[in-house]
Amino acid sequence: MAVLASGTGSNLQALLDHSRVRPAGRLVVSDRADAKALDRARTAGVEAVHHDPSAFATRDAHDEALAFLLRGRGIELICLAGYMRILSPVIVRAFWGRMLNVHPSLLPAFPGAHAVRDALAWGVKLTGCTVHLVDEEVDHGPIVAQEAVSVLEDDDEASLHARIQEVEHRLYPAAAALLVEGRVRLEGRRAVVEEEP
Ligand code: GRF
Repeated sequence: MAVLASGTGSNLQALLDHSRVRPAGRLVVSDRADAKALDRARTAGVEAVHHDPSAFATRDAHDEALAFLLRGRGIELICLAGYMRILSPVIVRAFWGRMLNVHPSLLPAFPGAHAVRDALAWGVKLTGCTVHLVDEEVDHGPIVAQEAVSVLEDDDEASLHARIQEVEHRLYPAAAALLVEGRVRLEGRRAVVEEEP
């Protein structure tokens, strides 16, 4: 399993710590040399790679090299965890059905980079988080797991995001484990989760 992360990496940490995904061979890749996620990987004894976008002339060239790296390591499942780059079709197609993302809203509501802020601005009483398979559109692919989080009257972006992340840290590893265990079947754009054997 590879985790792609650009920032703090709290979801990466949850994936590293979770007993049902821990046994999988692991690799952490970041587009940022200073990402805390890379430190978390090194601390956990996991290979950490800075894959630098500025070293490539185009997004496709970057993504082709990334796909080459991931294939070379025998990666079967990719988890995006706060990875702030949009991946091109070249890599999305190569890992179709095997790449997950976690997003801090109940998709299809509030896609994009400011989901928590947008939910607060809209005045929704309920938001949450979504784990979905990655397709060629941003925050769009088949939904594997979702959980709601109530919005409190005095929430600001930081307090609401913190409560959503508490849920993410439980939901994301559980959803990744479903893929590792081969329990997610696609029916059109529906991801059907098979019962535990
Ligand atoms: C998470 O809230 C996730 O939903 C979004 O980016 C954030 C990453 O946080 N895609 P972290 O780096 O895992 O702490």
